[in-house]
Amino acid sequence: MKRIAVLASGRGSNFQAILDRINDGYIKAEIVCLITDKPGAYSIKRADKAGIAVRILDFDSFQSRDEYNENLHETMMEINPDLFVLAGYMRLLDPKTAKEFAGKMINIHPAILPAFTGLHAQKQAIDYGVKVAGCTVHFVDEGMDTGPIILQHVVPVFFEDDEESLTKRILKEEHIALPNALRLFCEDKIKISGRKVKILD
Ligand code: GAR
Repeated sequence: MKRIAVLASGRGSNFQAILDRINDGYIKAEIVCLITDKPGAYSIKRADKAGIAVRILDFDSFQSRDEYNENLHETMMEINPDLFVLAGYMRLLDPKTAKEFAGKMINIHPAILPAFTGLHAQKQAIDYGVKVAGCTVHFVDEGMDTGPIILQHVVPVFFEDDEESLTKRILKEEHIALPNALRLFCEDKIKISGRKVKILD
């Protein structure tokens, strides 16, 4: 059974979606640890409730970004799971960490990449006036939201939408897309070839 570690900075609804789909048997995996950069993250409560170990690396308690990155790297090396899942982890990983875990680290982003990377992707989509939006699950590389794409789920954007309504619609889809990607990974059905990802039947 694959060992998964989750990185999350906040509310953790995607983390919860993974937990739920492991509990109901859809994903055959074990979550071995939650890593968070925020001591107040609601994700910690979810992990505690599920009996999952938590490693808090409070970003603000480190002298510098480099020191934080070094500690995060060491923590990740120590846990050494089959897969790291960035589920609302709101920091860019340093190049060394991205390289070390290439092909073993996935992220969910609330946009149809490569459009609308970074923060407030849903607002960017509204402001641009796109007619479809959605979420992307992708492998993590050194860039921001740039790694090879595993899958994308699309939702409509309506004239009446604001950031809040679109965020809600996309989030619902994230909770389906991320478990789907994890299931594929855990069944060894994902093959990376350069920038392209093949899903095996
Ligand atoms: C999700 O919408 C996720 O896609 C986004 O943060 C939210 C976390 O929600 N991540 C990013 O924007 C990363 N670039 P959650 O804490 O409830 O899972």
